[in-house]
Amino acid sequence: MRLLLELAQHGAKVVVVDLQSQDAEQVASEIVAGSGNAIAVTTDVSKPEQVESAIQEAINRFGHLDFMFNNAGIALVAEMYYMDLARWRRIIDINLMGVVYGTHFAYQVMCRQGTGHIINIASLGGLVPGPLRTAYVTGKFGVVGLSLSLRTESKKYGVRISVVCPGAVKTLIFQTAEMIGNDRRKTEEGLKKFA
Ligand SMILES: NC(=O)c1ccc[n+]([C@@H]2O[C@H](COP(=O)([O-])OP(=O)(O)OC[C@H]3O[C@@H](n4cnc5c(N)ncnc54)[C@H](O)[C@@H]3O)[C@@H](O)[C@H]2O)c1
Repeated sequence: MRLLLELAQHGAKVVVVDLQSQDAEQVASEIVAGSGNAIAVTTDVSKPEQVESAIQEAINRFGHLDFMFNNAGIALVAEMYYMDLARWRRIIDINLMGVVYGTHFAYQVMCRQGTGHIINIASLGGLVPGPLRTAYVTGKFGVVGLSLSLRTESKKYGVRISVVCPGAVKTLIFQTAEMIGNDRRKTEEGLKKFA
């Protein structure tokens, strides 16, 4: 949010994309209220056609795509023993395939433009494995691998690729995280043992 406001203050035209329409609308309206230029597009990043359409919306509205931030993600805390495959699919669909789709469609546009910068938000969990978050870590390692591999081949097209691996930051992700096979309090206690 703060990043988007700062970008808008520097003249960027912003397309705010989120599954939660109201949140995206609110961020876009705050940018517009601060004399910036922004629109909101409701998108589920796990659906490739929606990601493609959001990027098309950006092009239709603003003419080109300079930056693409693949930031959407969810957290899930569970021992592998308690995980079912539907949950595996959900976290990989959002945290890894969502970034693959965002990178894929933005990359096509940026390669044709001969310029652009894709910034993928992974996690410290994309570099350092840990228990109770095997699925999360699997997706984030994928995001790091995707970004570092593409980084080397994208140069000739004039496209930059970055990957960001933050440590813990207090956001809503911990409130919305599903915790399986344990109650929330016990799981949080368990996580402290590995901290
Ligand atoms: N908060 C942390 O400690 C931390 C640490 C490392 C990495 N990260 C990563 O940073 C990114 C942002 O997380 P955050 O901490 O700001 O959490 P957050 O919950 O505040 O933000 C995540 C956003 O993703 C959106 N989202 C979830 N599923 C979506 C979907 N299918 N399609 C579109 N949007 C969807 C949510 O609506 C929400 O606005 C995530 O990729 C997360 O894994 C967070």
